[in-house]
Amino acid sequence: MKHESQSHRESDRISLVDVKQTYRRYASVYDILFGWVLQDGRDQLLAAINRLSPRSILEMGVGTGLLLPHYPKEARVVGVDISDEMLAHARARIQRHGLASVSLQQCDCEHLDYADGTFDCVVLPYVLSVTPDPQALLKEALRLCRTGGMVVIVNHFSGAPLWHALERLASPLAAKIGFRSTFSFDDVFAAHQSSIEAVKRANLFGLSKLVLLRSR
Ligand SMILES: C[S@@+](CC[C@H](N)C(=O)[O-])C[C@H]1O[C@@H](n2cnc3c(N)ncnc32)[C@H](O)[C@@H]1O
Repeated sequence: MKHESQSHRESDRISLVDVKQTYRRYASVYDILFGWVLQDGRDQLLAAINRLSPRSILEMGVGTGLLLPHYPKEARVVGVDISDEMLAHARARIQRHGLASVSLQQCDCEHLDYADGTFDCVVLPYVLSVTPDPQALLKEALRLCRTGGMVVIVNHFSGAPLWHALERLASPLAAKIGFRSTFSFDDVFAAHQSSIEAVKRANLFGLSKLVLLRSR
């Protein structure tokens, strides 16, 4: 029998159709609902990326493009998302800010067409726990990042025992809004321990973490 923390529970399963439906619904209000509340994690992620000074960046799950105006100006940036509605907002943001070095692509980030090691830096802001197969996404991020480059992740992970109990209660509802509430850091990174360069707490109560993975 599989332990519950080793495999996602039935209620936590998310398909790509669920992702598209969820973000079709949220696109017009996403920045209002999740802009400020998750901003501390984005700010920490941006600080880490600015220290790395990458020449090329891939953002998986770019959404409405909240991070796009803040990446290093000299970097070539590709933003990928499955949701047309979220991408429409990202496109408008690119125009508003005149971001000539940013391009967008609509497709599934778990399976991209780029060659191995195409990007200096691969960024996953709040996408790992909402994609259908988090391990597949992580594998693709590491494949696309050049050797010695960095995969930078910010995401919610299951918390301390009290929080864990509350999160499990909220899980069926959370899955419906495309969000795995029971998402263990140890399970997600079990196979990548040796690549972890840094882990920092982020957002309210430290419920999110910024994770830097060195690509080898
Ligand atoms: C919670 S939003 C994060 C948006 C943005 N990165 C931010 O900082 O707020 C997650 C985004 O990931 C996208 N997404 C989830 N799974 C995906 C996948 N497998 N391929 C492409 N996009 C995906 C969703 O459509 C959504 O726009």
